Amino acid sequence: MMEETKKTWNEKEPILKIENMSIRFTQYDRGMHQTELPVIRNLDVEVRQGEMVAVVGSSGSGKSLLAHGVMGVLPYNAVMGGTITYCGEELTQKRIEKIRGKEIVLVPQSTVYLNPLMKIGPQIRKGDKGIQARNRLREIFRRYELKEEVEDLYPFELSGGMNRRVLISTAMIESPKLVIADEPTPGLDLKVAKRAMAHFRELADMGAGVLVITHDLELALEVADRIVVFYAGTTVEEAAVEDFEREETLRHPYTKALWRAMPKHGFQFIKGTQPYVKDLPAGCPFAPRCSQRTGACSQEIPWRELRGGSVRCIHAE
Ligand SMILES: Nc1ncnc2c1ncn2[C@@H]1O[C@H](COP(=O)(O)OP(=O)(O)OP(=O)(O)O)[C@@H](O)[C@H]1O
Ligand SMILES: [Mg+2]
Repeated sequence: MMEETKKTWNEKEPILKIENMSIRFTQYDRGMHQTELPVIRNLDVEVRQGEMVAVVGSSGSGKSLLAHGVMGVLPYNAVMGGTITYCGEELTQKRIEKIRGKEIVLVPQSTVYLNPLMKIGPQIRKGDKGIQARNRLREIFRRYELKEEVEDLYPFELSGGMNRRVLISTAMIESPKLVIADEPTPGLDLKVAKRAMAHFRELADMGAGVLVITHDLELALEVADRIVVFYAGTTVEEAAVEDFEREETLRHPYTKALWRAMPKHGFQFIKGTQPYVKDLPAGCPFAPRCSQRTGACSQEIPWRELRGGSVRCIHAE
């Protein structure tokens, strides 16, 4: 089942490496005037085996596009740039088509991705009626506390939380090496959300690379190993979870602002909103809201290593 993985890949290397990813849309305005929407620019993310990385960003920052870009399911009018390396080899469209749903799985944000007309069991087994697939399904159901009877039910007969566990089970049936979960927790109460996150943590502990995409920093900090902070389509910081224990160990002014906005740090919000792609300033997208802003912030800002993490800010030290 894992035929795609090259033996030459050193397991200490990242299982997934996204370098300088960009995604833009070509749109036609009234008449035939063509505009470009650069939704993602300069995005860098790495995930290692056994590691859970959370990409944290607010709504509209390009999180779903990142997931769809890796999975090779972007809309037709999107153009992607940069490189994606999976197990040491470039992840081309041809290659992702072969391994997606098997070695690399996406747990989509919404349970609308379940087929409403198909019973749960056959849906998760993807039509495989063999004894092995059935046994494996039993095992997964036990793990996710789903009763055997659920196999014979349709999605509408289950609660939202159960359907979410079914979605996760659908991803797990193939023992994936890399799991990408797009906003797996919205609409779930805190207890269920925590349990969903714990399932992903467990997958990482069993050796998979897990990339969780979320707007919920607090939840991410409870389970992830590393946090990648995303602002207006760009990665601004990559930090270990421990770096979030104190504000001083963080690097980017936006990450620090997120830290101060957490309930336990007093809900201190900064003014302004994330700019829409059409109104992006040159250079740092956070500059208009940043107290440390100088003229140099409107130049291109490099992604650089700093104190064991990475940052895209010329003032961070
Ligand atoms: N097909 C498309 N054509 C043009 N623009 C698009 C298209 N799909 C997405 N966008 C734009 O790209 C931006 C990022 O979208 P994306 O869905 O990745 O955000 P997100 O971070 O996942 O948001 P949310 O937290 O709300 O799920 C949005 O501003 C959206 O309007
Ligand atoms: Mg999204």
